[in-house]
Amino acid sequence: MTSKTPSESRTTMTDMVLPSETNALQNLFGGELLARMDRAASIAAGRHSRRITVTASVNHVAFNLAVPVGSVVTVEAAVSRAYNTSMEVYIDVWIEDRYNGKRTKANEAIYTFVAVDETGKPTEVPPIEPETALEKERYAGALRRKQLSLVLAGKMKPNDATELKALFTQ
Ligand SMILES: CC(C)(COP(=O)(O)OP(=O)(O)OC[C@H]1O[C@@H](n2cnc3c(N)ncnc32)[C@H](O)[C@@H]1OP(=O)(O)O)[C@@H](O)C(=O)NCCC(=O)NCCS
Repeated sequence: MTSKTPSESRTTMTDMVLPSETNALQNLFGGELLARMDRAASIAAGRHSRRITVTASVNHVAFNLAVPVGSVVTVEAAVSRAYNTSMEVYIDVWIEDRYNGKRTKANEAIYTFVAVDETGKPTEVPPIEPETALEKERYAGALRRKQLSLVLAGKMKPNDATELKALFTQ
């Protein structure tokens, strides 16, 4: 399979925060943001694989800044690393200042998607070649994140997570 770049999967979704999507503090409800990120990441994984994709795992979410009602929120997702049938998708969330257009990073998340056929069976995805410094950094850290996710899901023995172990022994 011919390799692709992260920019070929990059997906940008901009939307407003409506009152019905907020919590008691009138900030965006966490579950609503998770859904928006899942949608953008699903499109990115689909663009990379050109297959049906399913969310296999939410590996990391950091709600660093509250997102007030009325905010213009941009969710940007791109595949950061592809394996055999799975893909790590990195998601950045930005808030746009209404008056000067300046963007502030509010949140980020990392999801794992798996490409499947019509019967739901995992199917191969193209390899990926990172281009920019940030894409290379995310690519390099992805294998230990995959191993951590598999260990936590009980799908990999901790002893086999060599990349993850190296993080603590270096
Ligand atoms: C995700 C799913 C397809 C994996 O099926 P499976 O039978 O476990 O398949 P495998 O064990 O062969 O795993 C397939 C790939 O997913 C990866 N994977 C599975 N679980 C993972 C996890 N928790 N974290 C990271 N990667 C995971 C495997 O490492 C493998 O990757 P690779 O082929 O690139 O090396 C299956 O569990 C499923 O359909 N889950 C439901 C998905 C869904 O409905 N999501 C929406 C929830 S509302």
